[in-house]
Amino acid sequence: MTGLFVTFEGGEGSGKTTLISMLKERFLEDGVEVVVTREPGSTVIGEALRDMVLNPKFKGKICDMTEALLFLASRAQHIKDVIMPALSQGKVVLCDRFNDSTVVYQGLGRRLGLQQVKQLCSLACQGLTPDKTLLCDVDPTIGLARVKKINTFDRIENETLEFHKMVRQGFLSLAEEEHARFSVIDASVLSLDEMLEQAWQILLEMRILK
Ligand code: TYD
Repeated sequence: MTGLFVTFEGGEGSGKTTLISMLKERFLEDGVEVVVTREPGSTVIGEALRDMVLNPKFKGKICDMTEALLFLASRAQHIKDVIMPALSQGKVVLCDRFNDSTVVYQGLGRRLGLQQVKQLCSLACQGLTPDKTLLCDVDPTIGLARVKKINTFDRIENETLEFHKMVRQGFLSLAEEEHARFSVIDASVLSLDEMLEQAWQILLEMRILK
């Protein structure tokens, strides 16, 4: 028996983290066992790597390849300790960011190269691919303004608007390339409740199909 592996992607301030916690409630009400998890982080090692890679105090100290490898190191541990065990127990795994973030932020944003980063991801994940990826697409001007209201920016949020625009386009291109895996939710205009209804319908269909 295998579970359902769902990843959530999108730029800063897309509301995906809140969406994930709302979906978790829906699944639980439905009697479905669900695991919510995030990247980077979610294991002892992963959280230590997260502190390193997102910490503004390391601004200018982490080269682009190191950054990519830190995200991937966190992912390798996360897959082994959290994702695979949950999937093999038939659970639904809702994961906040996964390979597409690395491909877009590091491959495109940091210019490490899409193909090269895709290869690194495939190595780190031993080919594990999400059953479904919900892309919460947001205009970075809107998304960053939302983040700014609640938090100070981390090392990556601190990047230029151009960087974040490139990230958005990168996600949209991936969604076009792999349209069967991706579903795009408009997080610039939809309310969180509306996003929830769309996401729930998509995942219900997935559970029927699996
Ligand atoms: P986080 O606080 O989890 O923010 P968000 O709610 O936007 O997911 O920060 C994760 C940051 O790390 C975010 O700016 C995207 C970035 N990131 C990468 O650059 N590459 C990656 O592979 C991952 C997983 C995240």
